[in-house]
Parts: sequence; C-alpha cells; structure tokens
Amino acid sequence: MNLKKMVGYKAAEFVKDGMIVGLGTGSTAYYMVEAIGKRVKEEGLSIIGVTTSHRTTEQAGELGIPLKDLNDVDHIDITIDGADEISDDFQGIKGGGAAHLFEKMVANQSEEVIWIVDDSKMVHKLGAFPLPVEVVQFGCDQVFNLFNRENLSPSYRLDEGGSKLITDSGNVIIDLHLDVIDQPHELAKWLDSVTGVVEHGLFLDCVTKVIVGREDGPEVIDV
Ligand code: A5P
Repeated sequence: MNLKKMVGYKAAEFVKDGMIVGLGTGSTAYYMVEAIGKRVKEEGLSIIGVTTSHRTTEQAGELGIPLKDLNDVDHIDITIDGADEISDDFQGIKGGGAAHLFEKMVANQSEEVIWIVDDSKMVHKLGAFPLPVEVVQFGCDQVFNLFNRENLSPSYRLDEGGSKLITDSGNVIIDLHLDVIDQPHELAKWLDSVTGVVEHGLFLDCVTKVIVGREDGPEVIDV
C-alpha cells in the first residue's frame, strides 16, 4: 500500500472552497498536490495555492491550481506538508528536501498546519534524522567549523554531481548528525542566534493536525 498517497489524498479532503492553501514540498506532499489538482479539475474546487518550492510551483502550475506569491496574500487558511520526523510531543524536523525555509515561512502564516507522514516518521525523540540547517554561502565553512566545535557532527548536503547542494534561495545546507535532540527549543534558539544561519529544520509548536499513514488506514490526530 502506498502510505504517502493515502495521507496525501486524505489531507486534500480538509481543503474547502475559497481557502488559501499552503502547498508543501516532498514525495508525500506531491500526492496532496495531485489530489487537490484533481478536485480543482473534477469538482470545480476554487482555491488559491501558495507554494513552498520551485518543484511544487511547477507541479501545481501543471495541474491548473491557481497560485499566489506569499507576498500577495494576507493570510493562509491551511498548509499541508510532509515531515521527516515527528516526536511524541508533535515537534518536527523538516528540510530533507531542502525546502524548509519557504516551508516555515508559509507555515508561520497559516491558521492550520497539517503534516502528512507514513508511520516510519513517528519517533519518540527527534534527532535520528539529520537536522538540516540552511546557511548563506559566504563564509559557510566558518559556520561549519563552529558546528564542529560544538560537537554537532556537521556535513554539507551534496547534489548528484558531488557539489554543495544549493537551495531555491541560493544557500547551502549543513546537516547536523545528532542522533537524539533532548532539548529542541534550546537548540533552535541557539541556531537562530548564529550569524549566517538562514533557517533550520526544527519546526516547534507549529503543527495543528497530523495524518499518519498506517497499513490499516490513515490516522488523523488533532494536536
Ligand atoms: C522538504 O524540505 C521537507 O521538509 C519535506 O517536507 C520532508 O522532507 C518530507 O519529505 P518526504 O515526504 O519526501 O519524505
């Protein structure tokens, strides 16, 4: 069973006529965008999408979903996105697809935030998934060295050609291999204070609903 498709299609049911909808990024969000595209075409669902990456903009555009830039909306009703890990207390790591900067900006404007995941993403504590940190290119080795000194086990994210991966905003990604994050709020506060860090993938106190894909069907959890 395709659990990503299951939760993507389930989440699309929460989208109502007239809504402004944040459209996430990744292999799970792909199915949610596909499902919303179908509803636009087949039911005449009328929505405005606000995308979180060039990839999602391309997909939504091909499906005929009307789009607006984040600058051109005064609110977002609902944002639906994937996640890389969700802890027992519903904190999250995102950015496995290097889109967490735009994703966080869109989520921050949203009245409701739904994360869609297969059950492998539900964990006790965050940290087994490397924490993505988007950093400006200028002097990024200095930030990398700082992370090393702080024992945060950094590695640069590379593209298929073996060069540093460049994000939609022209920055690089440093992944922190932490195994367990005991104090996510403290770590987030510290990362926010590092000059050169644009955004990290800790999404804390942000989600309002989680849809978990399980073999026996989607589980909808109100947070
Ligand atoms: C994109 O940068 C991410 O935040 C994704 O939302 C996250 O990595 C989940 O992606 P998948 O659905 O492909 O696992």
